[in-house]
Amino acid sequence: MRAALAEAPAKVILVGEHFCVHGAPALSMAVNLYARVGVKLSRGEGLQIGGVEGFEGLLEAVRLAVEAVVKAAGRFKPPKLEVEVSSQIPVGAGLGSSASIASATIAAVSNVLGLNLPKEKILSLCSIPEKFIHGNPSGIDHTTVILGGLIYFRRGELPRRVEAATPPSIVIGDTGERRATKALVERFGGLLSRKPKLYLQKAENLTFQAVKALREGNLQALGVAMNRAHLLLSRLGVSTPKLDRLVEAALNGGALGAKLTGAGGGGCMIALTRPDEALKVAEALKKAGGIPYLAGLDGEGLRVRAMP
Ligand code: PMV
Repeated sequence: MRAALAEAPAKVILVGEHFCVHGAPALSMAVNLYARVGVKLSRGEGLQIGGVEGFEGLLEAVRLAVEAVVKAAGRFKPPKLEVEVSSQIPVGAGLGSSASIASATIAAVSNVLGLNLPKEKILSLCSIPEKFIHGNPSGIDHTTVILGGLIYFRRGELPRRVEAATPPSIVIGDTGERRATKALVERFGGLLSRKPKLYLQKAENLTFQAVKALREGNLQALGVAMNRAHLLLSRLGVSTPKLDRLVEAALNGGALGAKLTGAGGGGCMIALTRPDEALKVAEALKKAGGIPYLAGLDGEGLRVRAMP
């Protein structure tokens, strides 16, 4: 029986989340926490999905991902498949777990069905489960985890790779608070609509500054852009007292910049550190009540292989 295993990284947004839903550019980075999806053709019942129990919406998102590939394969009758999900990425935490799981599902199912879908096709199919989960996603999550690396993203344009002088050293701090992206995107949209031009211009400038800083290896300047981005996001209602506390703890612990990442409302924050200070900043985050992860750059993005 044919089988395949696909793996996709998590993502963090260095600058520009929420604003990118409304057309401003953002800068994101694929990081080395992974979702893995194993798929095999089976003799059993139609479609069996394991490993997503307890996560509202994920089961349906995986089902939609499978269905999208089956349609792309020109099949009317769904094949008998066993899909098993396992993930190191905390769910509902701003790290793009649903995009990682959905894209890995698409890659593994297409491999088992003998389709060799290029990444561009996987990108377009993945917007189906992502829309189901998030309502009106910009597409930054699945674009980043599928392509890997550092990505300059603007909705409606082709994503661009950013080459960093040195890959940034990032520490993630998880507040442990879970929330839904959809509701936060709606809340943010309401507040943004008071002065959309002003806020979108500020966000665009911060992304431009961050991209320039990254290309030039100017970590101080990248940190400044991240700090400003956090203030802007707080003003638009998506930070929380615990996120603010972790951001402050990271900065006091020596981080060059810190901000919430993803939709906010809980979930994760990120801190930019000098490489030799990552452990110190992680310790400061732990003391302040966060769960730290040392995040490295994933340069490859989604990958899949056939299993013997
Ligand atoms: O919190 P996450 O991982 O779902 O990230 C959402 C990023 C947003 O910019 C808030 C929404 C989007 O679709 O771009």
